[in-house]
Amino acid sequence: MAYTPEENGKQNQYTKQRIRQQITSLKKRLPAEEWKERSARIKERLCGLSVWQKSRHVALYHSVNQEVNTVPLIEEGWRQGKTIYLPKCNPQTRQLTFYKVDTFDDLEAVYFGIPEPVPERCTPMDVDRLQCLIVPGVAFDREGYRIGYGAGYYDRYLATLSPAVAKVSLAFQFQVLNHPFPREPFDQPVDVIITEGELIDCQGGAYHVP
Ligand SMILES: Nc1ncnc2c1ncn2[C@@H]1O[C@H](COP(=O)(O)OP(=O)(O)OP(=O)(O)O)[C@@H](O)[C@H]1O
Ligand SMILES: [Mg+2]
Repeated sequence: MAYTPEENGKQNQYTKQRIRQQITSLKKRLPAEEWKERSARIKERLCGLSVWQKSRHVALYHSVNQEVNTVPLIEEGWRQGKTIYLPKCNPQTRQLTFYKVDTFDDLEAVYFGIPEPVPERCTPMDVDRLQCLIVPGVAFDREGYRIGYGAGYYDRYLATLSPAVAKVSLAFQFQVLNHPFPREPFDQPVDVIITEGELIDCQGGAYHVP
């Protein structure tokens, strides 16, 4: 008996939710020293890539909990004279707005303890200038498909983004799954995934380690 699209959708969401829980519990078991050390290796790998070196305008997110630590990357971007943007969530519309951020003092924690730009103190991003977007995620497959936190913020945002903008994800190796997980019509893949162990080029040859 065939499932209706609605039943399929429910099944997909259930499977994604189980994967979120599994990977989140693995992340929680990562000792603080390991988290720091593996995050530093991921940062070095990204900074060695031409996509980072050539991008003057980079949008990131502020990591929380056991996500790959993006704080040193934000600082490195500032040190290198890049323009750095961070997102603010709108929970009503589930849309992201990026703002130029020059210091951590421009941030405040509003939702789920995630430091976000204070709109009154920051300038909104002109998306035409954006060259590289660092995309968060809980789990990934090797073709760049991702499972986020389940609200569709990044799926919505990526759907509007020019393909000329490089979409890069940072993940610990255990966040990259070798078995398939549901892909829904609205899911948007990234171009490349960087882990502490490897660079996964989801676009077939566009990215390489120099
Ligand atoms: N472009 C879109 N327009 C409208 N709704 C969307 C769009 N993309 C995704 N959604 C909705 O977002 C919801 C969550 O999607 P999904 O479970 O794939 O989240 P996710 O990928 O984990 O989240 P995120 O993108 O925030 O990391 C779904 O109910 C989906 O219908
Ligand atoms: Mg999705």
